Amino acid sequence: MRVAVTGATGLVGHHVVAAAVTRGHDVVAVTRPGRRPPQRLLALGTVGQARATLTDATSLTRAFEGVDAVVHCAAIYSYDSAATAHLTDVNVTGTRAVLEAAAAAGATRVVVTSSAVTRGSSLQPLPRDESHHLGTEPAPAYYASKVLQEQVALEVAERTGLEVVLALPTVVLGGPYDRLGPSNAIVLRYLLDATRSTFPGGCNVVDARDVGAGHVTLLERGLPGERYLIGGEDVSWHTLHGLVADLAGVGRPVFELPAAAAWLAAGASEAWGLLTSTPPLSTREEATTVGRYYWYASDRAREIGYAARPAREAVAGSLAWLAVGPDLPRVVRESLRLAPAVRAARPLEPRPLTEVAPDAGPRSDGHGSTSGRTVTPRRRPPRPAPPRRRPSPG
Ligand SMILES: NC(=O)c1ccc[n+]([C@@H]2O[C@H](COP(=O)([O-])OP(=O)(O)OC[C@H]3O[C@@H](n4cnc5c(N)ncnc54)[C@H](OP(=O)(O)O)[C@@H]3O)[C@@H](O)[C@H]2O)c1
Repeated sequence: MRVAVTGATGLVGHHVVAAAVTRGHDVVAVTRPGRRPPQRLLALGTVGQARATLTDATSLTRAFEGVDAVVHCAAIYSYDSAATAHLTDVNVTGTRAVLEAAAAAGATRVVVTSSAVTRGSSLQPLPRDESHHLGTEPAPAYYASKVLQEQVALEVAERTGLEVVLALPTVVLGGPYDRLGPSNAIVLRYLLDATRSTFPGGCNVVDARDVGAGHVTLLERGLPGERYLIGGEDVSWHTLHGLVADLAGVGRPVFELPAAAAWLAAGASEAWGLLTSTPPLSTREEATTVGRYYWYASDRAREIGYAARPAREAVAGSLAWLAVGPDLPRVVRESLRLAPAVRAARPLEPRPLTEVAPDAGPRSDGHGSTSGRTVTPRRRPPRPAPPRRRPSPG
């Protein structure tokens, strides 16, 4: 199949491209205009490159010319108010534009990357499935945008006859990435937290490689109109932080703080971000999810061939990128005693910082200052008393 992948520079998109190429598909990697695709993407063996932005329908139709299918991974995944102002334009209106352009270009099938958070969360440690919904629980604007994205996708499918399959990943861990996202930030926050505290509740974590392969399984075998949770293992925050501790060689979690403490710590993180003009490592909006269980079962996807690694491998993959990336202050990096599983995840050579070509100008979506430019370490200086991290369920 000839497949266009939007958001190919992103964490999920990269692995979708890699998995699709591995399974013998001809892949057209769609990236933003003004940004040369990173070398790591070109090295995957894509057959074509196309440039499009989600807010420009003409560029999308051109990008999809001659393809049989589209995997739509491009979106804003952020809880930072600088980015969330653009959530509707990119995640909702952008998805409509992608689907309409795919139909106009003659594609017949689209896999849309949504999120497990559209299936809601529980106060009890019980996994949810595709039949559940986001209820009246606290929901950051990002969650609402993903719910609307799904509605729009199914509506356009109905109108155009496109076969649309919805992929719902949980918390995706691993690399490569140019911009630290909220999922890998969970691991980073524990490394930065000198108090070694944890929180009530939990999430489901999945290795980025499994998410890429899962999308291709849906592309090949997913039923039109259906949602598929693409998850790994359900873990409490205590278990997840314990895994980070064991794999990074740092202290295990000692205290379980109440959700209110997470909210206050996130407020401190936002204040620090304002003071230093850096994206906050956590936000109060995201912290409203602390104390709940974002646990999900991926049985429906498994029935059509999806498989996932255990949480330990996903965390090792995340640490392998963080350990040599620009987001970890040197003083913390040098204190790590990485387990063999982290070293086995990938060669730990320092991350290349110049693989992305300069872009055509400033970004209009508030989606982070490093993206699209030569990658420089983001200004995240070591803090005397790092704000406590709190979870983000993806
Ligand atoms: N990561 C997770 O834990 C997770 C969990 C559940 C669901 N998801 C979903 O997975 C999808 C991908 O997330 P991710 O983690 O891969 O995010 P990411 O690493 O931030 O990648 C986002 C991608 O979207 C592109 N993009 C953003 N705005 C765009 C625009 N206006 N026009 C064209 N392209 C645009 C970005 O391009 P640039 O590189 O040029 O900025 C990048 O390639 C999203 O739908 C997200 O909601 C992610």
